[in-house]
Amino acid sequence: MMLSRCGWMPPPDRRPWPDGAVHVWRARLDWPDASAVALEPILSGDERERIARLHFQRDRRRSLISRGLLRTLLGRYLDMPPEALAFGYSPYGKPALAVPDTPLRFNVSHSGELLLIAVTLERALGVDVEEIRRDMEVLEIAARFFSPSERDRLASVPEVLRHDAFFDCWTRKEAYIKAKGDGLSLPLDQFDVAFGPGLPARLLATRPDQAEARRWWLRELDVAEGYKAALAVEGAGLTLACWDWPTARYAG
Ligand SMILES: CC(C)(COP(=O)(O)OP(=O)(O)OC[C@H]1O[C@@H](n2cnc3c(N)ncnc32)[C@H](O)[C@@H]1OP(=O)(O)O)[C@@H](O)C(=O)NCCC(=O)NCCS
Repeated sequence: MMLSRCGWMPPPDRRPWPDGAVHVWRARLDWPDASAVALEPILSGDERERIARLHFQRDRRRSLISRGLLRTLLGRYLDMPPEALAFGYSPYGKPALAVPDTPLRFNVSHSGELLLIAVTLERALGVDVEEIRRDMEVLEIAARFFSPSERDRLASVPEVLRHDAFFDCWTRKEAYIKAKGDGLSLPLDQFDVAFGPGLPARLLATRPDQAEARRWWLRELDVAEGYKAALAVEGAGLTLACWDWPTARYAG
C-alpha cells in the first residue's frame, strides 16, 4: 500500500470524498458538557437511550460527542443532514451506514479524551486508539491475549520501553480485529503483528490461512502524547490523509 506518512492537517473546505484514500479524523472529546449537549438532537432515540444508561457523566459526554461527530462527519461526506443517517450493526456490533448503495465505510475508536474516525470507500477498515496506562501488568496481559511470538517479542523489549511496545501491539491487533468486524470470536493468538522499537506496523502472520496476512495493510498513527493508535485496511494502493476536527467548529 502506498500510504504516505500521516501529518495532521486542517480539514479541507470542500466536501471530502476518499477516492483512492483513507481519511482519518482526529478530535478531542474534552468539551464543556453544555457544548456536548448541543449535539443531542442529531442522535437517534436509541443512541440517546444507550448513552443515558452509561454510569459516569464523563462517559456519557464522550459517547455523545463521538456519535454526534460521527453523524456530522458522515453527513458531510454524503451531503445529508446528520440526523437523517441510519446505522446497521454486524452480529458482533460493528456499525455500518444503512444508506442504500453508499460505498462509504467507516470505523470509530475513542479512548481517554481522543476520538478517531477512519473513512474509506468499499473496503473493510478498523481503527484503534488507546490511552497508554503505565499501571498495567503488561506481561501478564500479554500472556492471556498475545500470540507466543508477540509475548517473546514484548519480553525482549527493555523494561523502560515495554508499556509503549505493549500498546503498539494492542492497538495493531485491535485495529485488525475491528477491520474484520468479528469481535473477539477471532482469537487474538491466531495472528502476529510487528511491534516494538524500530518495527513498523505489519500483519506478519495469520493462522490457519497464511495468505490472509498479505490481504491487509496495517500502520501506526502518531496521534498524541500518551496515546497509541493503529489503522488496518483491506487491500492495497491507497493514500492516507489525516485531518483534525477544529475545536472552534465542534464547540458549535
Ligand atoms: C467491540 C470492540 C471493538 C471494542 O473495542 P474498544 O477498544 O473497547 O473500543 P473502541 O473505542 O476502539 O471502539 C468502539 C467503537 O468501535 C465500533 N465497534 C463496535 N463493535 C465493533 C466491532 N465488532 N468491530 C469493529 N468496530 C466495532 C463502534 O463504533 C464503537 O463505538 P461506540 O462504542 O461509540 O459505539 C472489541 O474489539 C472488543 O471488545 N475488544 C476487547 C478488547 C480486548 O480484549 N483487546 C485485546 C487486544 S490485544
